[in-house]
Amino acid sequence: MEAAFVNLVRPGDPVVIGVNGVFGARMCDVAARCGAEVVAVEVPWGRPVEPEALLSAHPSPTIIAVVHAETSTGARSDIAPLGTGKGDALLLVDCVTSLGGIDVDIDGWGVDVAYAGTQKCLGVPPGLAPLTVNERARGRLVERSPSWYLDLRMIGRYTGPATGARVYHHTAPVSMIQSLHAGLGAVLDEGLDAAIARHEECGRALQAGLEALGCELFAAEGHRLPEGTDDAKVRSTLLDRYGIEIGGGLGEFAGRVWRIGCMGHTARPRNVTLLLGALAEVIGSP
Ligand SMILES: Cc1ncc(COP(=O)(O)O)c(C=O)c1O
Repeated sequence: MEAAFVNLVRPGDPVVIGVNGVFGARMCDVAARCGAEVVAVEVPWGRPVEPEALLSAHPSPTIIAVVHAETSTGARSDIAPLGTGKGDALLLVDCVTSLGGIDVDIDGWGVDVAYAGTQKCLGVPPGLAPLTVNERARGRLVERSPSWYLDLRMIGRYTGPATGARVYHHTAPVSMIQSLHAGLGAVLDEGLDAAIARHEECGRALQAGLEALGCELFAAEGHRLPEGTDDAKVRSTLLDRYGIEIGGGLGEFAGRVWRIGCMGHTARPRNVTLLLGALAEVIGSP
């Protein structure tokens, strides 16, 4: 996220950002620290960011930015209409939680800059952030990024073609790169379409099972816990008794929402069944 903004924002640039959860808000903070004139399009948490709202927020933004899949709430926003309507702006998309789990079509949707993470649907240890910057965005890189380590011009001179002219920039985290290579190999072995179908199947099973337990889904209407449930106690009992960790709600939803990761290797039917069974028991006798 930071690498994207510190290489593209000039002080005073109008940057439109959709905010429907923690990570859209983080984008605003990062962009503001780069000197952007941030135009935040606030949306109630759990709802998608409507493309029209972003496209009409400013007459001539230099960047329109949005989170594809807001991990803090489980809400997915449509990207393709932003690519169609972005005009002269660059389209910058956070694909941290979507890459490898749902359809991501960077070029087809007209996305200029996107970053992801390894630790979500790719099922690889955390630590790397895959980043893509198309030719259009490369033509607009700032001359001198305020960040030394995240300066894409310098990194480009380091990672460029092996002509013998590479310029040392940092010590590459080779073990993480090898992990990513292995993880991507596993995705290719399974097939990207099959991996996406598996996430879909497990997500649906999890959602149906949670509703059967009396939980409401936040991304649709608001994931609220069943009345009288002790959030912290349920989560700690799940961890102690079953070794399963789920996340608590963030911000104003702390204590009222659970965030259940069903991504990467976790997205398997047996894990969904185990979690639902354990949750049923813990909610029944916390
Ligand atoms: C949508 C989204 N964006 C950004 C981030 C930040 O990633 P990291 O925690 O690896 O810095 C996360 C982390 O969960 C995320 O879910």
